[in-house]
Amino acid sequence: MRLFDAQLYIDRRTRLCEEVQSGIIWIMGNGESACNYKDNTYPFRQNSNFLYYFGINAPDLNALLDCETGEAVIYGHELTMDDIIWMGEIDKLSNLARKVGVTKIKEPAALQTDIAKAKSKGISVHFTPAYRLEHHEAVHQAGLDYPSLSLIEAIFNQRAIKSDLELQEMAKAVNITGEMHVAAMQFSKAGKYEYEVVAEITRICKAHNADFSYGPIFSIDGQVLHNHHHANLMKDGRLVLNDSGAQTDMLYAGDITRTFPVSGRFTDQQKEIYQIVLEMEKKGIMSCKPGVYYRDVHLTVCKLMIERFKELGILNGDSDAMLEQGIYGLFMPHGLGHMIGLDVHDMEDLGENHIGYEAGQERSKLLGLKSLRLARKLQTGFTLTVEPGIYFIPQLIEKYKAAHLFSDYVNYNKLEAYYDFGGIRVEDNIVVTQEGCEVIGDYIPKEMEEIESIMQ
Ligand code: GLY
Ligand code: MN
Repeated sequence: MRLFDAQLYIDRRTRLCEEVQSGIIWIMGNGESACNYKDNTYPFRQNSNFLYYFGINAPDLNALLDCETGEAVIYGHELTMDDIIWMGEIDKLSNLARKVGVTKIKEPAALQTDIAKAKSKGISVHFTPAYRLEHHEAVHQAGLDYPSLSLIEAIFNQRAIKSDLELQEMAKAVNITGEMHVAAMQFSKAGKYEYEVVAEITRICKAHNADFSYGPIFSIDGQVLHNHHHANLMKDGRLVLNDSGAQTDMLYAGDITRTFPVSGRFTDQQKEIYQIVLEMEKKGIMSCKPGVYYRDVHLTVCKLMIERFKELGILNGDSDAMLEQGIYGLFMPHGLGHMIGLDVHDMEDLGENHIGYEAGQERSKLLGLKSLRLARKLQTGFTLTVEPGIYFIPQLIEKYKAAHLFSDYVNYNKLEAYYDFGGIRVEDNIVVTQEGCEVIGDYIPKEMEEIESIMQ
């Protein structure tokens, strides 16, 4: 198990205690599987807060941190003979704990006793929202009511700002991801099934001791935003949307999207739309700097789409009025991006709005804004995705057309020529710097000529 130095985890915990100030903090690890019984049922995924503060990527652990004394205790079973029989003589919990600067280990049952003791003394117990069955059960058993907003805020403030070591891990994830994307372009051609290409990118991912950071989206039906179905036969004339990313063995994620033609050559219609998406992505990246609200970056990029659609005759009218009404959402019904780090949608288990929105920032219900996961003001050290797209979703367009919505602005007849188009998304991962931002990792080809040359 690869870990950072013990001191780094100690420093992270000290800072968390300082921010939360009083009470005890309960960091819940994840159980072995959805049914919480032994290994080898479902893949294990450690809770990212546990990884961040305690590093140990192993199941069925919990931890308490005392804000007054700074004492940290890990609750979990020491290695048993059964574990050795089924999993081998893996590192002992006490060794692992030492490697993350924790010397006190207790049996799992002591967790509830210690929480009850704290409660009986009137000490507040801070915990994060439960999102798995074992968390719900444990919170219920402890007789606790609500997750702690001060803990959520403290974790966000800390995890949102990535250190150099974390950025190195993220660059590694993006670089593996880049290799997967170039291979997907080289490997794709008419007559192959999508899953054959997915198999190839899986091979590359695994060959780097990495894993997917989320279920790969690889489809000639790119208009389906999260399309995890890979059984289509690839045909000339279609675009392939490949939204896939690797996570390193320390579980830092990459999340990259590239879109390319099955044939290796963009048609004129595809070129027109691709050029707009690429321009949107570059404009999005250029607009990110400390102090800027990501909601405004989203709107800047969507306004660019409106302007370009006016040039194509798809939209007409006042751009600001269209922006205000969220008309661009007909073609990009998702947000421009999200935080990324130990989770692909970083920290969203703490509550999507707690992470993406600041206090007082209302989440809009407009089609073009309701799926915006990140709206808050950017800070130096934030890592996020910039992922504009243009999709022609015939069912959505038909619905709006039938209801005569936006009919003053949208040239619905012109859109029929795009019903077979699919969708395009281009996505990179960035870190906000003092001057602006930088794309994380090595460059992954995204210009049309580069893609066509790779696919020759
Ligand atoms: N990679 C998929 C997403 O960002 O939702
Ligand atoms: Mn993404």
